[in-house]
Amino acid sequence: MSTGPTSSGTERAWDTEDLPQGEAKVAAVRQMFDAIAPRYDLVNRIMTFRLDVRWRRKAVRLLALPAGSTVLDLASGTGDLCIDLARAGHRPLSCDLSFGMLSADRSGAPRIQADILRLPVPDGSVDGVTCGFALRNLVDLPTFFAELGRVVRPGGRIALLDVGIPRNPLIRWGNGIYFGRIVPRIGALLSDAPAYRYLPKSVAYLPAPEQMVADLRAAGFHDAEHRLLSGGLTQLLTGTRGRPT
Ligand SMILES: C[S@@+](CC[C@H](N)C(=O)[O-])C[C@H]1O[C@@H](n2cnc3c(N)ncnc32)[C@H](O)[C@@H]1O
Repeated sequence: MSTGPTSSGTERAWDTEDLPQGEAKVAAVRQMFDAIAPRYDLVNRIMTFRLDVRWRRKAVRLLALPAGSTVLDLASGTGDLCIDLARAGHRPLSCDLSFGMLSADRSGAPRIQADILRLPVPDGSVDGVTCGFALRNLVDLPTFFAELGRVVRPGGRIALLDVGIPRNPLIRWGNGIYFGRIVPRIGALLSDAPAYRYLPKSVAYLPAPEQMVADLRAAGFHDAEHRLLSGGLTQLLTGTRGRPT
């Protein structure tokens, strides 16, 4: 992986034309989120025109678990989903790789620092899992889905959000211009330019929806479904853990 000098003269692992892979990607992602944590919420709200708030609430609604459920929010960042889960009457647990993001978590949920590909949680111990906007940051999605199949109890539910690729060519074109040109400028003004240049490029890591649905079904979520939200700006995967065979 190549790295390049930044405007501040220092080199950062995510400031690269290439998309990092494997352990280099894990390190780059952790350092990047540590760096952008203080302004993460502000930039998110501005760049999505607060649609991100609506997408997370929809994910919690479609999780469709009874109040009082224990829900592990994976790649929890600053705790937005944990706040929505608590508002819905659930007992959220926050888990993230980045110490900076966990430090900025203001949800009050118990926090765990871990790589979500290796969850420090017993088999079948949670009623549900949520994950917001992190699938593209992971090095191995089938391993992640298998971890979900391991930790979610039979009958438990998952709701996973990530950025989408709109199907309508006009919306896709507008979205490409917005994320490719405008978001990096907003990021540069308010936070970290290379991190917000990485954002549109990182969508390339995401497999096709059909592939993710097939992988989730193979991991034990027999009714896994994929939805596009807001014309495809965001995608949502949901599913129920079947009985292990
Ligand atoms: C775009 S942020 C999303 C944060 C939050 N879920 C939200 O909805 O705003 C992605 C988060 O994924 C975390 N992350 C990336 N890879 C991870 C991994 N392998 N294990 C745990 N957390 C990870 C990052 O530290 C970051 O907090």
